[in-house]
Amino acid sequence: MTTTLTPVLTANWDRPDSYTLDAYGEYAAAKKALGMDPDAVIQAVKDSGLRGRGGAGFPTGMKWGFIPQGDGKPHYLVVNADESEPGTCKDIPLMMANPHALVEGIIITSYAIRASHAFIYVRGEVLHVIRRLHAAVREAYEKGYLGTDIFGSGFDLELVVHSGAGAYICGEETALLDSLEGFRGQPRLKPPFPAVAGLYASPTVVNNVESIASVPSIIANGADWFAGMGTEKSKGFGIFSLSGHVTRPGQYEAPLGITLRELLDMAGGIRAGHQIKFWTPGGSSTPIFTDEHLDVPLDFEGVGAKGSMLGTRALQIFDETTCVVRTVLRWTEFYAHESCGKCTPCREGTYWLKQVLKRLEKGQGTEDDLTTITDIADNILGRSFCALGDGATSPIHSSVKYFREEYLKHFEIGGCPFDPKKSTLWGEQ
Ligand SMILES: Cc1cc2nc3c(=O)[nH]c(=O)nc-3n(C[C@H](O)[C@H](O)[C@H](O)COP(=O)(O)O)c2cc1C
Ligand code: SF4
Repeated sequence: MTTTLTPVLTANWDRPDSYTLDAYGEYAAAKKALGMDPDAVIQAVKDSGLRGRGGAGFPTGMKWGFIPQGDGKPHYLVVNADESEPGTCKDIPLMMANPHALVEGIIITSYAIRASHAFIYVRGEVLHVIRRLHAAVREAYEKGYLGTDIFGSGFDLELVVHSGAGAYICGEETALLDSLEGFRGQPRLKPPFPAVAGLYASPTVVNNVESIASVPSIIANGADWFAGMGTEKSKGFGIFSLSGHVTRPGQYEAPLGITLRELLDMAGGIRAGHQIKFWTPGGSSTPIFTDEHLDVPLDFEGVGAKGSMLGTRALQIFDETTCVVRTVLRWTEFYAHESCGKCTPCREGTYWLKQVLKRLEKGQGTEDDLTTITDIADNILGRSFCALGDGATSPIHSSVKYFREEYLKHFEIGGCPFDPKKSTLWGEQ
């Protein structure tokens, strides 16, 4: 249990000029890394225990170690800055407030995996972030931190900021690579994995913004420093994004393993006069939790043991005034809209989930409809081509598990019990 924050990536966010090179410093970690053997850099990241911050939690150093060496092919680093999962809102403020941590991390990572070209694939709608990234990259080139012979080490690196067109599926790493190559973004069959045949069929590392931005601090302070935070298998710190019915929503950087109860204490609790009803531990693709789960350690193992996933630590908090059926409908509409259409279970399943949920939310459904949505979700989960389909089933299964009564209440009263025209609260029925 921990009650303290560990600001590292967020340490300078209060400074009005935090995004400038003057405020950030001289890329001392990159200078140090470029004086090391590239394999020693990979080993340091392995020793730190850093696991991917994009959702799946794959060990970062191990991923880098999969890049074949001496293969004569170009290697690429692609940073996944597509951040589009409902509730996830950490990479965008990170790139706005501290873009140089990302650029420095890119230099260190590219050196370690022997890549001389790197890309930041950023979500197209966030024009303010794209501008800021361009400015940071320009500053780094002007200082000689990018380009040729960086720090006199003989290492060359070109960094390109590429904006997508705003599709959630382009955050899936292989769809992202297709999009970056100029094709329609749809997931590729794996294997081969990107480490073997990624961008332009060459060995490629795809990592999340926060994963890469964490690397300079590991090189600067040492693997043991990082591994000294967090829990046994989920090391280090991460940004926890609290949104929704919270007194002080925002980004709380803390060791993995902190609980929602502790985070809420720091965030001033649920908004005044209300109680927590349900919440997502890691975005809408992770099964919802309730007030029973306030003391679950927010690390990969702790959340998994209770039937959900840590995901992107996007803690969306909903109080007792929220209709769970309406919330699940909204998320499902998102998945149906963002389904890329490549595979039948997800393309058709999300469409039909949306239709049945609409009926349920209006109070026009029957108990059979609950069986139907569970059945549709069962036919998507594990049968879809990529994890978007699986993610779409999380709100369905978990909401029916915890809030079956609330679904039933909708067709008992022939409408939404939270609709002011029907009744604001069940107690008034
Ligand atoms: C539909 C979908 C959307 C995703 N969106 C993102 C995203 O926006 N950012 C991200 O880093 N990972 C996203 N991922 C996960 C990536 O496929 C990949 O696992 C991740 O970029 C790896 O980086 P990491 O190991 O540093 O976490 C998404 C996955 C899926 C299935
Ligand atoms: S699961 Fe959905 S998003 Fe993924 S490939 Fe199939 S249709 Fe496309």
